[in-house]
Order: sequence, then structure tokens, then C-alpha cells
Amino acid sequence: MSIAIAIDGPAGAGKSTISKSAAKKLGFIYIDTGALYRTVGLAATRANVEPVEGKEVDELLSKINVELTFNDKGEQIVLLDKEDVSRLIRTPEASMTASKISAIPSVRAYLLDLQRNMAKKDNVIMDGRDIGTVVLPNADVKIFLTATPEARAERRYKELIEKGMDVKYEDILNDVKTRDYNDSHREIAPLKQADDAVLADTTEIGLQESIDLIIKIIKEHS
Ligand code: DC
Repeated sequence: MSIAIAIDGPAGAGKSTISKSAAKKLGFIYIDTGALYRTVGLAATRANVEPVEGKEVDELLSKINVELTFNDKGEQIVLLDKEDVSRLIRTPEASMTASKISAIPSVRAYLLDLQRNMAKKDNVIMDGRDIGTVVLPNADVKIFLTATPEARAERRYKELIEKGMDVKYEDILNDVKTRDYNDSHREIAPLKQADDAVLADTTEIGLQESIDLIIKIIKEHS
């Protein structure tokens, strides 16, 4: 039987960086499920389809093919109709479209089996919003990773500036708050801590401490 670790939490809590490092250390495969919603969002943008519930999105879903693979460094690659879109889905616009499109029930249903199948094959750390509550309700360990909106916006701002993007802190903070609201107020699979998840708040601690904390929680609970 493979082991599954579910890490959920709001945007910018450091889930991907922390989960990636913890997975490497533990020899698990890291799966970033947000990339899947981002890819469906990108497909909608390209097809000029509004990210709202309805026939257009459903038709789009019936036409596209989304796959997750890994390169030889073990990094996740997401393919949209066989095209590697892993980098294209990382812009602030793609984040906002992903947040909107992820509220559509047919989109969530479309991505559910893909996520579950990934966890059947290998030991995984899977991060997202509803992994512990919906995708893998029987996960061996569930962690809810969070930090204040300001701390999360500050981190994302630095990250994007380092990548050479022209962004403002206030815009990022607004985006973080809007996405928090969207992600936790949608009707289907909203962002919320599973009853049996361990809470990890990283507002006051740095990256290495956060990674150590997550590894400690995983070891203690698995
Ligand atoms: O983790 P992320 O920021 O890359 O996710 C992008 C969007 O996808 C986010 O606003 C919420 C959505 N999402 C989701 O609804 N469920 C998941 N399991 C992962 C992401």
C-alpha cells in the first residue's frame, strides 16, 4: 500500500516549496494539484471561454487533454494537449483564472480521478485545497498549512520580483485576499481544514523551519 500525505492551505502559504522539499527528503513524489486547475484555466483563456459554469466550459473539458508527468529531475510537468505549459500557468492572471475555474463543479469532477490515480501508484505528498477533505479523505497524514494574508503576499511578491516580473505588493495582497475569499466561499470543495488535519502556521517561521516542521508532523503521524 502506498502512503499519501495531504497538504492543504490558502494561496502563498508555501505549500509547494515546503511540500517539494519534504517529498525529496522522504523519497516521495510531490504532486501540485493547483497546476491542474491552472492548466484548465489556461485552456479556457486560449479558447476565449469565460471561467463560469455552463455549456462552454463543459464543451471545453470534453475537448482538452490534461496530463501530469515528471522530468528526469523528478519535477512535475503539466501537459495541455501534449504541450508543456508548466511555466505558462505561473502568471498572476493564470492564478486568478484558476481560482475562478476551480469553483465549477464539472472542472473539479474532471480532475478528480486524475488526482486519485496519481496517489494510487506511488507514495505521494499532494498539495491543494481539498486533498484532505475530498480527493484523499483517507490520507495517512493531513496537514493544513497557513500564514496571514500579509505574510503570504510578501513572500509571493519577493518571488515574482526575483523572477523579473513587474508587480506591486498591494496588487499581490489584493489577489491573495480575493483568492482566499473565492477558494473558501465556493459551494463545492471549499478550502477548509479537515477535522483530522494538523494545523501548521508558518507566519512567524522561515522556510527551513517550516520544512522541518512538516517533516516532523509527517513522521509523528504516519
Ligand atoms: O495552489 P495554486 O495557487 O496553484 O492553485 C490555483 C487555484 O486552483 C487556486 O486558486 C485554487 C484552485 N485549487 C483548488 O481549487 N483545488 C486544489 N486542490 C488546488 C488548487
